[in-house]
Amino acid sequence: MTNKYMYFVANWKMFGEPKAVNSLNRVIKFSKQRKSNKFKLIYCPPYTLLNLFSKKLKKTKIDIGAQNCHQDNNFGAFTGSINPQMLKSVGANYVILGHSENRSSGENDILINKKVKSSLNSNLKIIFCIGETLLQKNNKLTHKVLKNQIINGLKGIKEFNNVILAYEPVWSIGSGLIPTISDLKLNINYIKNIVKKNFKVKKLKVIYGGSVNPKNVSELNKIDIIDGFLVGSASQDSKKFIDIVQKTFI
Ligand code: PGA
Repeated sequence: MTNKYMYFVANWKMFGEPKAVNSLNRVIKFSKQRKSNKFKLIYCPPYTLLNLFSKKLKKTKIDIGAQNCHQDNNFGAFTGSINPQMLKSVGANYVILGHSENRSSGENDILINKKVKSSLNSNLKIIFCIGETLLQKNNKLTHKVLKNQIINGLKGIKEFNNVILAYEPVWSIGSGLIPTISDLKLNINYIKNIVKKNFKVKKLKVIYGGSVNPKNVSELNKIDIIDGFLVGSASQDSKKFIDIVQKTFI
């Protein structure tokens, strides 16, 4: 049970066709009924559905985000890429950056930092993902990895109002495994301290992602320093996504 303002981000990854827009009906109804100003729902469908989703959600309080973007904010000859201003033009307000699935396909901290800067310059809010692999965890490198990802990925950022950090242990994503409550507390506190110390920030939003579902969300929510959840597979089922939100406030 929480009394805090919470973020719930639906990361659809490479799933969804146009007919999936109908699954938003249930969430729209829920969001209208709740009339709550205690949470923010953010849908991050694939690029192909951004425009459709944003039209559908236009008169609601639900926001739209993209799952990545190109680092260059100008238009240019970058086949297959989408830049921040193109995302804005189809109604996105947020973008997920540094997701481990993109880091593992070659994105490094320098590239991610460029994306962070151009997204913020385009007035997109960013959901900046960090997290350790199982090998790094087993070698007790978690804090070192998190520190490097934060310091290098957020280099030069002075204003954190439009930044949400998402702690997503790589070994937890899609595996059904979640960290122990004490590890999670320790790591989220560590993240908050590193950012506060290195960027002179007083207030910071940190959400958790990795196998969040209606069954484990109450357990995860015992940690009152968490500002919300980044939800992958469970978010594609509106009923489960709503359940996650409801259980956070029960
Ligand atoms: P998952 O994905 O909830 O399916 O583990 C989370 C994510 O990758 O953001």
